[in-house]
Amino acid sequence: MNHFLDIHKTDKAALRSIIDQAKSMKSARNGRPKAAPDDDQPLAGRMVALIFEKPSTRTRVSFDVGVRQMGGQSMVLSGNEMQLGHGETIADTARVLSRYVDLIMIRTFDESVLEEMAEYASVPVINGLTDRTHPCQIMADVQTFEEHRGPIAGKKVVWCGDGNNVCASFLHAAGQFGFDLTFSGPVQLDPEMEFVGWARNEGATITIERDPMRAVEGADLIVADTWVSMHDAQSAKERRHNMLRPYQVNAKLMEAAKPDALFMHCLPAHREEEVTSEVMDGPHSVIWDEAENRLHAQKAIMRYCLGA
Ligand code: CP
Ligand code: NVA
Repeated sequence: MNHFLDIHKTDKAALRSIIDQAKSMKSARNGRPKAAPDDDQPLAGRMVALIFEKPSTRTRVSFDVGVRQMGGQSMVLSGNEMQLGHGETIADTARVLSRYVDLIMIRTFDESVLEEMAEYASVPVINGLTDRTHPCQIMADVQTFEEHRGPIAGKKVVWCGDGNNVCASFLHAAGQFGFDLTFSGPVQLDPEMEFVGWARNEGATITIERDPMRAVEGADLIVADTWVSMHDAQSAKERRHNMLRPYQVNAKLMEAAKPDALFMHCLPAHREEEVTSEVMDGPHSVIWDEAENRLHAQKAIMRYCLGA
């Protein structure tokens, strides 16, 4: 039984085989209707619980569809409609759910909830985003980069904006997949230094460059995310916008990167804030492939967790 809690907690060989399997499962579907079953039905007879304590479009739909394509069944549970949101402990919830389902995916606030769920569940647990990390997203991002440009090892990825949960998982991926990551954002919103240190220890080149135009020089991939995450206080919105405005990804910034640089965003995006529509809808952008690959990457993650 394998949990999928974070990219830095999963071994390199497993991560590589998840990406490779995601690519081959995607090509095996070869334009089939969305509800058509995969040829092999690796999740036949399996039940999956998808728990959301925060909103979601992509994670929710892609997990649900992925389970069904692989022959399993899924249920989407909202945290505050469960007893979990009304005083039942995480440990007890984990023990009970383990008697009904074969796999648990949870999107939550504090990372400790995920960890406790994994500790007390007797079935695998997948991190569907916490305040601190978003590993499933970055697995899809690595898959997307490699589909367009080949191996990501040795490439230069530039993160523009807030050093948030998605940025954290990019740092972990830099360490595991061997790419360089440059963070460009205001000092107040630096990524966690623990994660920067972890990636550097793994041999990744992690650079902090406050000037976004200099940061993107030689970039193979530029990544943006919202300036106000789901766990951030709405009262901090204006202050964050003021700090982050210089880091908007626009046509001028894209032009300063390599001519064939890609643009990614985990979505949902705030057009004309962290990224302009010109870039989102322009020739460098691979955001729709990136969103689609959530489905394929997570199907491979579920197979890894279940050994299926
Ligand atoms: N990128 C992502 O996780 O999107 P959702 O919040 O819609 O799931
Ligand atoms: N950083 C964003 C990602 C959303 C998918 C958030 O946590 O709200």
